[in-house]
Amino acid sequence: MIKIAMVGFGTVGRGFARALAENREIIEKKIGKYRVTAICDSKSSITGDFRIDEAFKHKSERGRLPESRSAEEIIEEGNFDVLIETTPTDVFSGEPGLSYIKRTLKSGRDVITSNKGPLVVAYRDLMRLAERHGARIGFEATVGGAMPVIKMIRDELAGNRIKRLRGILNGTTNYILSRMEKEKAPYPQILSEAQELGIAEADPGYDVEGIDAGAKLVILANSVFGRNVRFQDVEIRGITRITPEAFEIAVEKGYTIRLIAEADENGKLEVSPRLVKLTNPLAIYGTLNAVLIETDLAGEVFVIGRGAGEKETASALISDLVDFYGNGSFG
Ligand SMILES: NC(=O)c1ccc[n+]([C@@H]2O[C@H](COP(=O)([O-])OP(=O)(O)OC[C@H]3O[C@@H](n4cnc5c(N)ncnc54)[C@H](OP(=O)(O)O)[C@@H]3O)[C@@H](O)[C@H]2O)c1
Repeated sequence: MIKIAMVGFGTVGRGFARALAENREIIEKKIGKYRVTAICDSKSSITGDFRIDEAFKHKSERGRLPESRSAEEIIEEGNFDVLIETTPTDVFSGEPGLSYIKRTLKSGRDVITSNKGPLVVAYRDLMRLAERHGARIGFEATVGGAMPVIKMIRDELAGNRIKRLRGILNGTTNYILSRMEKEKAPYPQILSEAQELGIAEADPGYDVEGIDAGAKLVILANSVFGRNVRFQDVEIRGITRITPEAFEIAVEKGYTIRLIAEADENGKLEVSPRLVKLTNPLAIYGTLNAVLIETDLAGEVFVIGRGAGEKETASALISDLVDFYGNGSFG
């Protein structure tokens, strides 16, 4: 029986819990029986013998979970094999997730996270900590949501030299640029419409300034190229200064403009708006994410998928769970 503790019960945490309950039969075929032994958010928790739907019931009826054990206490008590960490991203401090993850790995337990912050701030430290304590850390969900990229490069492209990665790693900016291209409307107008539709946050800085894409690029560069880079090492330019006129000229010449994140084997690390040929696979539309991987043996491999969302991110977290415990490899 795999015991799962969850820190964070927001969009992603709830999506993960729902998927565990709804796809139990499919998942148990892969990893055997499992049970959620603790869930907490920033103020409340549920622990011990409970069903997942009870957590949802408490949240919807009372706006909180029934107990007040903190994440620290849950991690300290250690009644779990794997921690699912889905607290908010802070790419500068990595907290609160960084401390939770370190503590869990030090106790020899596995971690699966959707939180970019800890990996951006301390990628190498976390990998070393996991190794030293015989634990594992899964982070497929941190880059590109449901789009399989990290394990795909590790497993399916194993044995290849990865020469270059170019990708669209932020759905919000891609949506804004797609609409600017089609409608030739100004950036502030499309942004405010995207905010009304819930595609852009009220404070859109993380997305439109390229911070989110930069954070994902750091994780890719460290995991794929074995680098030890941080957020400050990425050259970043966002999309806020792109004009409808720029799109007009680009399209006339057979190009569009997309926010491209690029890392290569020579150390390039850049997020910036670039001209992309309309026939290039990276000229994608809407909130999708995509990565074009250039390798020595397999040539070019293109991955595309939904970069965010409750179910989509849950799918990536579960793929790590199956990676860790699949084929009866637990216990
Ligand atoms: N949403 C997506 O589509 C998506 C996709 C990929 C990756 N991610 C990443 O996944 C993570 C979670 O995203 P989300 O959209 O689920 O965020 P969210 O809806 O804001 O949920 C965050 C959860 O973390 C809890 N939390 C905050 N501070 C905490 C603390 N100090 N200790 C314990 N719990 C704490 C919150 O509790 P309260 O409710 O009490 O505040 C909430 O339950 C973020 O790092 C995000 O960048 C999100």
